[in-house]
Amino acid sequence: MSKPSLLGRLGQALWLGGPLSPSRKKKEQALAQRRLSERWDREWIHYFQLEDPTPYLLPHERLTLAANITRLAPREVHGTRLTLEVAKPLHIFMPGSHLASKRIFEVGCGPGLLCKQLGLIAIHVVGIDHSKLALHIARAVSPATCSYYHSSQVRKLRSLEGTFDCMVCRFFFIHQNYDNSLRLLRLARRLLRPGGLVGADFFQPDLTKEQGVYFPAKSALSQKHPSCGFVYSNGEVEELAAATGFRITTRWESRANQRLFVLLERQ
Ligand SMILES: C[S@@+](CC[C@H](N)C(=O)[O-])C[C@H]1O[C@@H](n2cnc3c(N)ncnc32)[C@H](O)[C@@H]1O
Repeated sequence: MSKPSLLGRLGQALWLGGPLSPSRKKKEQALAQRRLSERWDREWIHYFQLEDPTPYLLPHERLTLAANITRLAPREVHGTRLTLEVAKPLHIFMPGSHLASKRIFEVGCGPGLLCKQLGLIAIHVVGIDHSKLALHIARAVSPATCSYYHSSQVRKLRSLEGTFDCMVCRFFFIHQNYDNSLRLLRLARRLLRPGGLVGADFFQPDLTKEQGVYFPAKSALSQKHPSCGFVYSNGEVEELAAATGFRITTRWESRANQRLFVLLERQ
C-alpha cells in the first residue's frame, strides 16, 4: 500500500472534512455523547435551582402506595397519584393492566421519580437517560426492582429484548425531534414483546398560552436549547408509527396538557 502524501496526512490529522478513520469516529462519538450527557446534567442542576428537589431525593423506603391502578384506563392512570408522599400524579398514558406486576421500560427516566414509584408495583422497571447525574440519584433512591442504564449503554439491554410489556415516558417525546423519535421507537420495538405498548406524549402547543422555545418536529436538534419542544402534527405521529412497526390504538388530544398522547401497539 502506498504511503499517504504529507498533505494527506496533515489533512487527516486536522480532519479537513474527509472520511474519518474508525478509531477517530469512535472518539468523536464518545465526545459527542459526553457533551450530550453534560448538557442534560446542567439542565438538571438548573431545574433543581428552580423547583423543589425533595420528591426526586425521597428514598423508596419512604414511599407508601396510595392507589391500586390495575384496572385504570390510560387517562385515569395519567391523573392518579400512586404514592402518598409524591404530590404529583403519574403523568403517563398507559393502562394500569400493563403496569401492575409487569416489566416496564422508561426512556428519559431522569432521577427516577417515576421508576421508583412503579418499582413498588412492577416486576422490573428499567430506566435509561442521557444524564449521568440524574442516574446517580435514581440508583440511590430506587428499590431493587429498578435498574438504570446510560443511553450510551443500550447494548446492555440486548438480553432483555422482546421481554418488556410497555415503554412509558413523561415530559419526553415533547423534547424529541422526528429523527430521534424514529430511533427511540425502533429501540422500543426491539425491547417490547409482541402486543407490548408504548405510551408517548407528543407536543401540541396551545398558541393562546405563552410558550418556551419550540420547533417543528422535522427540525434538527438545537445545541443551544436541549429542553426545547418539537411540535408534531397528527399526520407525523401516524407516519412515525407506520415507519417503526406500531399501530396507534388510543389517542388523547389534551389541550390542558398541550399534548397528543398516543398508545402504540407493537405489531
Ligand atoms: C424533561 S426530563 C423528564 C425526566 C423524567 N421523565 C421525569 O418525568 O422526571 C427529560 C429527560 O430525558 C432525558 N433524555 C432526553 N433525550 C433522551 C434520549 N434520546 N435518550 C435518553 N434520555 C433522554 C434527559 O436527560 C432528561 O433527563
